[in-house]
Amino acid sequence: MKNYVSIAAIDSLPNWVNEAIELKKNPKKHKNLGEDKTIVLLFFNNSLRTRLSTQKAAQNLGLEVIVMNFGSEGWTLEFTDGTVMDQGTSEHIKEAAQVVSQYCDVIGIRAFANLQSKEDDEAELVINGFKKYATVPILNMESSVGHPLQALADAITLAENNTKSKPKVVLSWAPHPKALPHAVANSFVEMMHLQDAEFVITHPKGYELSSKITKGATIEYDQDKALENADFVYVKNWSSYQNYGQVLNNDKSWTMTLDKLGAAKFMHCLPVRRNVIVTDAVLDSNQSLVIEQANNRTFAAQIALKKILENL
Ligand code: CP
Repeated sequence: MKNYVSIAAIDSLPNWVNEAIELKKNPKKHKNLGEDKTIVLLFFNNSLRTRLSTQKAAQNLGLEVIVMNFGSEGWTLEFTDGTVMDQGTSEHIKEAAQVVSQYCDVIGIRAFANLQSKEDDEAELVINGFKKYATVPILNMESSVGHPLQALADAITLAENNTKSKPKVVLSWAPHPKALPHAVANSFVEMMHLQDAEFVITHPKGYELSSKITKGATIEYDQDKALENADFVYVKNWSSYQNYGQVLNNDKSWTMTLDKLGAAKFMHCLPVRRNVIVTDAVLDSNQSLVIEQANNRTFAAQIALKKILENL
């Protein structure tokens, strides 16, 4: 595997998940794989989990790690060919990607959707720009349309907590005061396409995700009906895709409560707004898997980096 930029890079989800679970018993097992190699992690946006877990994963593999908060410390990048750069951008992606490549063996990139232009976000200007011009592999640490490290951590968490041959997994939209990207929900849906599960997506009308992503999935607009007999409930806010980047409503009746959750396990990628997305009672209950999910981010990153390093 050259790059890990989307779930499509996973050749066998069960094998990756089993390998990650095995790795948890001995995280330093492959500590020589990254010897004399360096990973640069470029953050165009804030992070807690991704930054620390990817750094930890890289260190477990013996990699040197260089972290840069590109969004606040780097030059503003230009992505269009042939532009007369006499406006706000200072450095072209062509030079930036080639220059960073000289300092490392892998580049990790976090670059969120700006939610202003669907066309620009779907073109994945930052991650695809680096993929095009970098001379080393790229690790997606959440891009405009996907968060494949989160989805892999979620798959590991599901496997560790599942007791059924075909569990019911529900992805439920929840309210949020700000417009959020679709990346986490998109990659979770893509990952669920690879699972043997009854999978249902529920959200108010107007919050349909891209039909290219949800193709074949069951969509139920009645949240109570969707949640019936659920084993796992993954809650996430996202802004409207059709009315791109808009917050259409903030219907608090969609907030996840213990009553709605029933006997299901609760999942969320974090950070989470308490008593907006989900009540304190759910997060503080033993039905919540959010801390386990965050822990599994290390092993998701470690498996993805291991596959990249083995291919260098
Ligand atoms: N879930 C996740 O990616 O967390 P951070 O944004 O804190 O990295």
